[in-house]
Amino acid sequence: MAMRSLLSDHSHYVESFRLFLEKSTEHQCMLEFFQKKLPGIIESIGDGKSTINVLSVGGGAGEIDLQILATIQAKYPKIIIHNDVIEPSAEQIITYKERVAEASNLENIKFTWHKETSLEYENRMKASKEMRKWNFIHLIQMLYYVKDIPATIKFFHSLLDPGAKLLIILVSETSGWARLWKKYGSRLPLNDLCLYVSSVDVEEILDAAGLNYQSYELPSSMDITDCFLDGNKNGELLLDFLTETCNFTATAPLDLKKEIVEDLKKPECSEERGGKYFFNNNLCAIVIEP
Ligand SMILES: C[S@@+](CC[C@H](N)C(=O)[O-])C[C@H]1O[C@@H](n2cnc3c(N)ncnc32)[C@H](O)[C@@H]1O
Repeated sequence: MAMRSLLSDHSHYVESFRLFLEKSTEHQCMLEFFQKKLPGIIESIGDGKSTINVLSVGGGAGEIDLQILATIQAKYPKIIIHNDVIEPSAEQIITYKERVAEASNLENIKFTWHKETSLEYENRMKASKEMRKWNFIHLIQMLYYVKDIPATIKFFHSLLDPGAKLLIILVSETSGWARLWKKYGSRLPLNDLCLYVSSVDVEEILDAAGLNYQSYELPSSMDITDCFLDGNKNGELLLDFLTETCNFTATAPLDLKKEIVEDLKKPECSEERGGKYFFNNNLCAIVIEP
């Protein structure tokens, strides 16, 4: 059986992503960043506006989106917020809608979901000539899945209203991800479904485009101890997520499996504490000006 990209099986992708969230401080580190920095970042996005337009690109199941919206709502309690979500996974959209239905304090927020990829949205907007502008756009942990990252950033940047902000969050160049992908990217099922990029690649794109931005490092880790227990189902799912490969344990060549599992334990990727291994999941938040 040949190795294939994790994204080629969306349910499997979502299952491994949920386990990753359980085992890592991925969302906690974002929440800490939102508490400390987001109020300053969104400080003036709604000044003089009757509504605030927020665009979530790859919004997933909405956990993070609702935190962002709560921060905007706290700053602008009386203004109506339009929150549009671009998300290709029907499964994620269903969970997002359930979350919204169960939440309180969302009266002033109008949600619209678009079941499509960022490129489909871009093409639809260009065809309709309806270039709606936004006060806050975020692309959180999703740039790996677009075909042309510079073009995607350029397109969403062009949709910013004056005073708006574009937030990108992705793995940091200091993370185990960046090291793992740099070393093994060419031997993993790299195809047009997933690109191995980290903060340094995005910063290079922004520099080349002459855009102004500020970067913040978000320390985070993931407990990957299960990956070293033979036959452990969670460990296998985490390995799928780490390598972005569907059924990595069953389909990867033995030598590749052995090398990756050995490297995952090394200090370049993980820290050993109390008999457990914590993978460096540091993220980077990049805030781009209009
Ligand atoms: C790692 S999840 C991140 C979800 C959410 N932003 C978060 O941080 O919790 C990536 C999301 O991007 C979505 N996605 C994948 N390819 C995409 C594309 N081409 N355009 C927009 N979203 C995409 C996936 O369905 C998934 O929900």
